[in-house]
Amino acid sequence: MSFLCQPVSRAFSSSALRSSVFKHVTVIGGGLMGAGIAQVAASTGHTVTLVDVSEDVLKKTVKGIEGSLQRVAKKKFADKPEAGEEFVRKVLQSISTSTDAASAAQTSDLVLEAIVENLQVKQELFGRLDKLAPVHTIFASNTSSLPIMDIASSTSRLDRFGGLHFFNPVPMMKLVEVVGTSATSQETFDSLLNFSKALGKTPVSCKDTPGFIVNRLLVPYMMEAIRLHERGHGSKEDIDVAMKLGAGYPMGPFELCDYVGLDTMKFIIDGWSANNPADPLFAQSELLNGLVAEGKLGKKTGEGFYKYKVFVEILTGLHL
Ligand SMILES: NC(=O)c1ccc[n+]([C@@H]2O[C@H](COP(=O)([O-])OP(=O)(O)OC[C@H]3O[C@@H](n4cnc5c(N)ncnc54)[C@H](O)[C@@H]3O)[C@@H](O)[C@H]2O)c1
Repeated sequence: MSFLCQPVSRAFSSSALRSSVFKHVTVIGGGLMGAGIAQVAASTGHTVTLVDVSEDVLKKTVKGIEGSLQRVAKKKFADKPEAGEEFVRKVLQSISTSTDAASAAQTSDLVLEAIVENLQVKQELFGRLDKLAPVHTIFASNTSSLPIMDIASSTSRLDRFGGLHFFNPVPMMKLVEVVGTSATSQETFDSLLNFSKALGKTPVSCKDTPGFIVNRLLVPYMMEAIRLHERGHGSKEDIDVAMKLGAGYPMGPFELCDYVGLDTMKFIIDGWSANNPADPLFAQSELLNGLVAEGKLGKKTGEGFYKYKVFVEILTGLHL
């Protein structure tokens, strides 16, 4: 499947094996994604500096990573609890924290951001770090929906800039979409591929197009399900049942929209339709816009396409 999105020159090749492997990694943003990426990187022999806006946030992030590692250790070292404790201790030792992105970047082979999904904020961050990071340092973004080139354009290292799109929850999800822009060098791209493999993930090569592979297929599918319902072609319930029982999907499209968050869906589709107004795949939905305007954002607010009595967190891995 990845071949559809794989420029010939960037197919997995022997040149990939020659590329450098990152040793010290700075992860900026210690939220849902950044915490997972830091945990996986530290668990696979990298040293990591995790950066966020305050010590308070970082304390909570590290506590979360510790809890997650303990769950991993319980499974991995079921018969050897002491080895499990040692594993948790060693991984945590490989993670340092900082509120100073600039000084962290100065000693890093890779700076990977997983901060708020806002182009200006990401550009400001990388523009600032570009002046301070060593020449060899590669920059990467974990953005779900923004063009990598738009973020990279705030720097003077376009050849050393790419996308590394992880999936939630990072410790469990095997896929990484490795994204090269038209300016990303082959060496940079290969290093990002190799890094993904070193994390124990399966990378696929992507061009810098809206949604890369997974979200490019998933978001238009979910939007078309909403439009199908708007056109009166089926109830939400029937469409959900149809896709679960007929296509074998674990969740129906309306259930998935509610799980992802309708605001997130709208944010992504607004951005894509602004950049590609003629593309019917990215057309707006009045129903979606109306629900968002009413504050009905899905599971997190107790109501979206469906109403939720109890807020239950399910880990399906189908996050955007
Ligand atoms: N949530 C997902 O399922 C998912 C999946 C793939 C990619 N992404 C992408 O990953 C990125 C992060 O998403 P998330 O869900 O982890 O968000 P989040 O809100 O959980 O975490 C973001 C973190 O970044 C910190 N932050 C914000 N601005 C910062 C700055 N200037 N410097 C340092 N730290 C800063 C915040 O304090 C917060 O802790 C976004 O670009 C998102 O599109 C998210």
